[in-house]
Amino acid sequence: MLIAIGVIVVVASSLYGLVIFPQRQLAGMEPVVLTTADGSRVQVPQDLESWQESPGRKVYESLGCVYCHSQQVRPEGFGSDIDRGWGARRSVPRDYVLAPNPLLGTMRTGPDLANIGARQPSREWHFLHLFDPQLTSPGSVMPPMPFLFEVMDREPNWAGADEVLLPKPVNGKPAWIVPSRRAQELVAYLRSLNQRGTLEDVQ
Ligand code: HEC
Repeated sequence: MLIAIGVIVVVASSLYGLVIFPQRQLAGMEPVVLTTADGSRVQVPQDLESWQESPGRKVYESLGCVYCHSQQVRPEGFGSDIDRGWGARRSVPRDYVLAPNPLLGTMRTGPDLANIGARQPSREWHFLHLFDPQLTSPGSVMPPMPFLFEVMDREPNWAGADEVLLPKPVNGKPAWIVPSRRAQELVAYLRSLNQRGTLEDVQ
């Protein structure tokens, strides 16, 4: 009898602590619209359509980026995320309210990407880095993803090719990489990652 009561108490308190309490605390949370210094209005986080449902997010999931990269900036006093420049503030629950399955990640083999869109806005940089991380970050252990690109030995002549000249010649000749659609979508997603707003604004 005592054991049965003990089991019920443990299950009930876990259910309350892990399911009911967080639900009551966070369920009503919604995005906020902020006015930036230049007077424009931004929603934090951005819309489902433009961000969480973006095809690039699916590419990120399918290539396993989450196994090496987190998307959550820890508060000061818990690690050095803010000192490293991974974000201007810690991440808060509101940053994820539109996410069907937030890609928080648990491993940090690579840097946190919660604000990579703000930290590295250059598309060209992202293409070169994905093609071969050693080109932009010598010594990087991130796996290269050449399958996301086509390598050409002359500059493509069609509009929207988005080609990038490789900094090193291939077989002694200049070469260009042309990103596939998946690469373009992935980079659009990465550039959209940006936890805007100060802590007071978004909490
Ligand atoms: C095996 C682990 C690993 C995997 C898988 C991985 N990365 Fe990385 N990533 C790293 C490491 C380590 C670095 C730091 C060195 C560098 O810049 O390349 C890094 C750096 C980065 C950076 C630059 C971050 C900065 O602060 O400069 C971006 C962007 C990035 N990775 C995106 C991705 C994407 C997108 C994927 C999936 C397609 C991915 N990574 C998969 C390990 C990984």
